[in-house]
Amino acid sequence: MIITSNVVRLLAALPVVGATAVASKPFDVKGLSLREVGARNTLEWRIWLEKDGEPISFWHDIPLYPDPEDKSIIHYYTEIPRWTDGKIETKRDEPLNPIFHDEKNDLPRFVYSVWPHKTYPFNYGSIPQTWEDKNHDHPFTGYPGDNDPVDIFDISELPPSYIGQVKKVKVLGALAMIDDEATDWKVIAIDVEDPVASKVESVEDLDKYRPGVRQQMYDWFIYYKVVKGDGTNTILGEDYQNATFAQQVLSESHDYWLDLMKGKSKPGKIVRNQTSNARFCSTYIPKEETTEAFKLPSESEILPAAEKPEEYSRWYYLDPENNWEQIQV
Ligand SMILES: *[C@@H]1O[C@H](CO)[C@@H](O)[C@H](O)[C@H]1NC(C)=O
Ligand SMILES: *[C@@H]1O[C@H](CO)[C@@H](O)[C@H](O)[C@H]1NC(C)=O
Repeated sequence: MIITSNVVRLLAALPVVGATAVASKPFDVKGLSLREVGARNTLEWRIWLEKDGEPISFWHDIPLYPDPEDKSIIHYYTEIPRWTDGKIETKRDEPLNPIFHDEKNDLPRFVYSVWPHKTYPFNYGSIPQTWEDKNHDHPFTGYPGDNDPVDIFDISELPPSYIGQVKKVKVLGALAMIDDEATDWKVIAIDVEDPVASKVESVEDLDKYRPGVRQQMYDWFIYYKVVKGDGTNTILGEDYQNATFAQQVLSESHDYWLDLMKGKSKPGKIVRNQTSNARFCSTYIPKEETTEAFKLPSESEILPAAEKPEEYSRWYYLDPENNWEQIQV
């Protein structure tokens, strides 16, 4: 009798695993490292995230919220550090979703610098445990998701992050970008370590401390694909959506991700193997077993970077019709 009631009390005291309570213990960024293999600026190059020296997934194993009670602060991982222009992305269709250099016509892809910007003016990356579900039209945009984690740009003034760095940021708003008939949210955020982070809650607050940032970053997104031949980008609403709205976008995309992991959505070509949620049993694998199971390189082996083609080093000036070729000398 006594033993039974103690067991019942013990069970009652265990934390309830709710729909959003995915991580059971706090995620320690300090235990993270990177396994990098190959030469930068090549298509073979990869970076895997490691926890305690063992490979885990950038996308599926970093909790979205450092503190599930505070939806204004999220984790993200850097793909494109500020002042670089290699189009670095998350590999959806390889186990543990390493970071790789995206391709265009079988060559590593870079972004042309449209004056006055040179390369990316912010740290750019992906938000873990979110998914822009291609099976659902987003109610705000009317377009389905682009099948990726939600993108983020971190406008903090701290030294640039490095590829694969996991950071905590405060969400300030979001741009509803439409790319190729798909919804591609760009969340604007600031590193919690930035000197003004505690003073800004919105894009309007940014105007007080960092005047110009809001418009410059907006314009960057509008024009960055013009030289590539894609024309200007479309941002629905032609302005930033507010922080509350952005938090809601993240919460919805987290639910889509949960459905993906539970096998309730068509995964397409997404590889979902992960090391942190034993409840998603068909994809769970202890991190100590991942190197062998997925035949990953056992340690970093970094080769000298390949050269970046010269055409990406110059500036491109747009005339009022967004032509650039005519004004070349
Ligand atoms: C944020 O945006 C939503 C949708 O546009 C709006 O309904 C809401 O009132 C806004 N909140 C604030 C605090 O401005
Ligand atoms: C990876 O996940 C798939 C399901 O998406 C599963 O069938 C497979 O067994 C997993 N691989 C490992 C090594 O756990």
